[in-house]
Amino acid sequence: MKESPRHIAIIMDGNGRWAQKRGKQRSAGHQAGMKATRKIVEHCARLQIEALTVYAFSSENWRRPETEVNFLMELFVKAIRSELNKMHENNIRVQFIGELSRFSGILLNEIHTAEEKTANNNGMYLNIAVNYGGRAELVNAMCEIAGKVQSGEINPADITESTISAHTWLSVCPEPDLFIRTGGEQRLSNYLLWHLAYTELVFTDTLWPDFSAEELDQLILSYGARERRFGQTGEQVQASS
Ligand code: FPP
Repeated sequence: MKESPRHIAIIMDGNGRWAQKRGKQRSAGHQAGMKATRKIVEHCARLQIEALTVYAFSSENWRRPETEVNFLMELFVKAIRSELNKMHENNIRVQFIGELSRFSGILLNEIHTAEEKTANNNGMYLNIAVNYGGRAELVNAMCEIAGKVQSGEINPADITESTISAHTWLSVCPEPDLFIRTGGEQRLSNYLLWHLAYTELVFTDTLWPDFSAEELDQLILSYGARERRFGQTGEQVQASS
């Protein structure tokens, strides 16, 4: 049987264009995007995916008009309040990754409630990247490691890739196997720079609010047909499988 991805990472792009195409405000696109997110989270949990990481707000998104930023912040608060019980029932562990300190006390409170309530669940990890930047994550990891070197806890000669992985915000999850970006752009936008080193990349033109469980199933199937070589030759991979 073809392998399923253990960890899927998604850039949910295209909410604004989805709304513009319908003559609606961008906020309507984000609301529709929220519904798509709910469906995909439930679908991944049903498929017993180990981890799903979604990019909800990048560190660059603060540059958007204040009304849109405020709308997104309120949407996050409402989304956590309305979805938390369902996620908990589905045994999902919710984690927020990113530099959280910039958020309002109200949102931080909801974030902590969601993380605490689901902390002992042992189903899928749902990692929600907010005010997240891949470079910032690495800077944070380097600072933590430097602090440990200074205090004598870590010897610089013992620093390996595992040391760095252990100091990232996704240290408890396997590395993403499948990356999906909707909305037609083909770039990483500072997302999971450390973690995507060997991930299979998929870019789809579908705008996020139109992204469906069926399309995800298709992408998972085509992921299963890819040969992941991790630097080896095709013959080596086939001999060891
Ligand atoms: C990108 O589309 C989308 C965002 C910046 C917001 C994503 C948020 C959601 C889908 C809601 C999910 C919420 C939670 C709590 C997980 P865009 O606005 O950049 O679209 P455009 O490129 O067409 O303008």
